[in-house]
Amino acid sequence: MKNSFLNLINQSFAFPGKGFDLKANSLTFQGIDIAQLIEKHGTPFRLVYLPKIGSQIEKAKNLFNKAIQALDYRGNYHYAYCTKCNHFYPIVAEALKNDAHLETSSPFDIDLIINLLSKGKIDLSRTILHNGYKTEAYLKQILRLQELGFSNSIIILDSKQELTKILKLNPPKRITIGLRMATAQESKSPFHTSRLGIPPNEILDFFRKEIKGNTSVSLKMLHFFMDSGIIDNAFYWGEFQKALGLYSKIKKEYQPLNCFNIGGGFPIANRLDSDFGYESIIFKMVQRIKITCLSEMISEPDIYSEFGKYTVGESSAVIFQVLETKQQNDSEKWYIIDNSLLNTIPDAWAIKERFILFPINKWQQDYERVSIGGISCDHTDYYNSEDMNQEVLLPITQSSDPEPLYLGFFHTGAYQDAISGYGGIKHCLVPSPKQIVVEMDETGKMVDWVFRGEVGGEDVLDTLGYL
Ligand SMILES: Cc1ncc(COP(=O)(O)O)c(C=O)c1O
Repeated sequence: MKNSFLNLINQSFAFPGKGFDLKANSLTFQGIDIAQLIEKHGTPFRLVYLPKIGSQIEKAKNLFNKAIQALDYRGNYHYAYCTKCNHFYPIVAEALKNDAHLETSSPFDIDLIINLLSKGKIDLSRTILHNGYKTEAYLKQILRLQELGFSNSIIILDSKQELTKILKLNPPKRITIGLRMATAQESKSPFHTSRLGIPPNEILDFFRKEIKGNTSVSLKMLHFFMDSGIIDNAFYWGEFQKALGLYSKIKKEYQPLNCFNIGGGFPIANRLDSDFGYESIIFKMVQRIKITCLSEMISEPDIYSEFGKYTVGESSAVIFQVLETKQQNDSEKWYIIDNSLLNTIPDAWAIKERFILFPINKWQQDYERVSIGGISCDHTDYYNSEDMNQEVLLPITQSSDPEPLYLGFFHTGAYQDAISGYGGIKHCLVPSPKQIVVEMDETGKMVDWVFRGEVGGEDVLDTLGYL
């Protein structure tokens, strides 16, 4: 029997599946004929399939609502999209079209929202959750949004100092706030507690001293986010229960609190056989909240999530052509692709993130084990089995073949453009700092001057497609 790549996949996975199939021996993704796109646009390119965003949002809403009904839960579920995950206009507009609320992380996010308002893509009743480190500029932007009429803007305090900072700005109306509980870190982490949020043992005291009798603020939400993501294990449920315990204690003293925010961290498929079990974990979440509220005799909160990667990750792919094959010794063969992996899927390099990798064509060819190299001159610009802990087995091809081999990395829609800095954008849209040059003048005196200013603002809005 021929050891074709197709046979290998058929023997290893339930294929077709997860949006992948073959049409005339060529890969389709979410029904898109990738070979046709290659023919039309050439490689390399990124692609995003917008309807996948809507179906992900719908799936989560359905599963939460199913659990809510089954458990006779007396609160609602609200889906928010975390914009930092992928800020591009078509993506955020698609999330809004599917009734997602938004979560922001920096002052620049507010400019995007104001732009969306001017285009009629968002209405003033949409909930906007403000996370992240609150600089004065960010707080001023949030107040600007509230002045424009966004009536459900909630400032989630990342530290106790942020309350003082907000009040110093003399907000014209009572402001609605949330508290972010800093979560414990997994044992492999270099830290015990996340730097994001307020340590759980300080929250009650802070609430009683600074919030409870304070008529300038109204506390509505308790928030927590697990840096390690939502995983059905004892560690996750321990932190979940800790946050619920805090929620209950505050709720008994303070009625306006009525929202429990589980943050982001829903995983996506990074293998064809990934099976996360969304339904059972969502059911457990709703059930645990319900049981705690019953035993503590408090009303059940509305549940919020801020899924980023889950919303957009699986909607995207990046497609390359193999330019050349290089046999460097008996066992090491390279497929050199027509771009850089460092620049296009930086998480593969930085945090050893895995993405689904498939050839687009040549599925009937025999396969072999290879490493994939980028065309940047950096020796770390590669993707292989050892580092990625997976077999990189691909159809055999040679540089001399008239038809080149094309490859796709799939489910790459989250964070990759911001981290690689597409067109000057940055993670959380934090501007690139100005560049200062120091040199000696003719007299031997040291002089310094600004060679290039900070990059951000309008240019970034343009790059992201808002202008
Ligand atoms: C506060 C907050 N919410 C939501 C998210 C989204 O996380 P994810 O993309 O894993 O869903 C993040 C990511 O860093 C975050 O910091």
